[in-house]
Amino acid sequence: FQVPAVDNEPMYNYAPGSPERRKLQDALVEMRSQMPFEVPCIVNGEKIFTKDTLNQPLPFDHKTTLASFHNADKNLVEKAIEGALKAKPAWEAMPYNDRAAIFLKAADLLAHKYRYKVMAATMLGQGKNAWQAEIDAAAELADFWRFNTQYATDIYSQQPTKNAPLTWNRMEYRALEGFVVAYSPFNFTAIGGNLVGAPVLMGNVCIWKPSPTGLYSSYLVYEILKEAGLPDGVIQFVPGDAHVVTDATFEHPEFAGFHFTGSTHVFKHLWQRIGNNINTYKSYPRIVGETGGKNMHFLHKSADAKHAALQTVRSAFEYNGQKCSACSRVYVPDNLWEEYKTELVAQTKQIKQGPVDDFTNFMSSVINKQSFDKIKGYLSDIASGKTPNSSILVGGKCDDSVGYTIEPTVVLATDPKAKTMVDELFGPVVTVYVYPADKYEEYLEIADKTSAYALTCGLFAQDREAVIVGSNKLRNAAGNFYINDKSTGAVVGQQAFGGGRASGTNDKAGSSLNLLRWVSPRTIKESF
Ligand code: ALA
Repeated sequence: FQVPAVDNEPMYNYAPGSPERRKLQDALVEMRSQMPFEVPCIVNGEKIFTKDTLNQPLPFDHKTTLASFHNADKNLVEKAIEGALKAKPAWEAMPYNDRAAIFLKAADLLAHKYRYKVMAATMLGQGKNAWQAEIDAAAELADFWRFNTQYATDIYSQQPTKNAPLTWNRMEYRALEGFVVAYSPFNFTAIGGNLVGAPVLMGNVCIWKPSPTGLYSSYLVYEILKEAGLPDGVIQFVPGDAHVVTDATFEHPEFAGFHFTGSTHVFKHLWQRIGNNINTYKSYPRIVGETGGKNMHFLHKSADAKHAALQTVRSAFEYNGQKCSACSRVYVPDNLWEEYKTELVAQTKQIKQGPVDDFTNFMSSVINKQSFDKIKGYLSDIASGKTPNSSILVGGKCDDSVGYTIEPTVVLATDPKAKTMVDELFGPVVTVYVYPADKYEEYLEIADKTSAYALTCGLFAQDREAVIVGSNKLRNAAGNFYINDKSTGAVVGQQAFGGGRASGTNDKAGSSLNLLRWVSPRTIKESF
């Protein structure tokens, strides 16, 4: 197989006065002048307006609507499954180079033709600032599509190296028998593109239910793949009520795989449902999920406190704390506390918050009312003393009069097992615990034991022995482990992403490990 060598999509810096900034601003103005958009379901290439609509508001201005989208009902999802299964034989039989070409072209269309449009949709609909949208909707999405073609090529070329006399052994990497279901989250436009892109590249067909709060950008992703040459029916775009889509897809005998990013609770529930239905299915479905996190930064007494504080602010508050990788708890040794605290508080206080089209705003608002209410309730309990061993050091204000706005907030815990050190909030709140500097190993063990999740971790230490000890003690506490760096910002092709425990199946998005889940290999021995 021959696919071109790929590299990471170069990122623009959107400096004031730069042509890139102007183009992005123009795209935002244009999008605002045209919204609300009407988004259909797309089944067998046909746009279907079911009239059962919901709105996608701007999180930082919730009375304004970006898009109104049409929900699929059970019949339509069933039709989508039937259509996908019909499209499958031709798709699976298409030579790999041609399937890869679609994704390579889609990445180029995104990078060179639709970059600003998809970024504007991600900024307005999901509340990302320009740089966060660039990381996600431009770079990461293009990277997933490009690097996957490389990984697939590696997989296909892995063939048996031994043949007994008069025989020839081969490995055929077939797609799964049936269809794959992808449920994508709001927080990364790129993730949706990969949840469908990875199985489809390997020859599968996919029923895609995008998040209602990331809907418009997901629709643009679908449209790009279609423009790049994706045949009708290979991806069926069916926004809809989760129960409706689940009822139709999870009860079907040809349900062959589930590619999910979202909450731990929902994933566990759906996994159980798959288990309960196991006798319905022709094959054991592949279940791949990336779920929650309570990611930590852990500082050793030799750490550069100022650097660690800055990385904490970035990890905890970039994209309003809504990256699955965001730091939400920190262990700081008491020898560094004053220096770390001074920097943490100063950096947090100078964060500017507001609409994303004002490029001086670092943060905007959390995604919806449900998220706002959860975090607000949590912070009120801390402020009123109802939550033991925790107090607010900076921030804490919540205001949903215009957007679902939560101030960047630092909580101080006086117990390493405090609720605030273990519960996932998925918003701009980070809890800090100060530990005795000479009890590094003891507190590493506590940090590990209180990690129900295991997605990302940043370990900060200058002392190499401490790096080794920390790395060993936290071996299972994170699937992405950073040394002297923040817990966010995995780059496709550089740091494959995913974690264990309640954070997911650790099938590493952006790697051949993920793609391998979407094939069912056939071993062939031919005798001459
Ligand atoms: N892949 C994203 C990151 O690493 C979530 O921040």
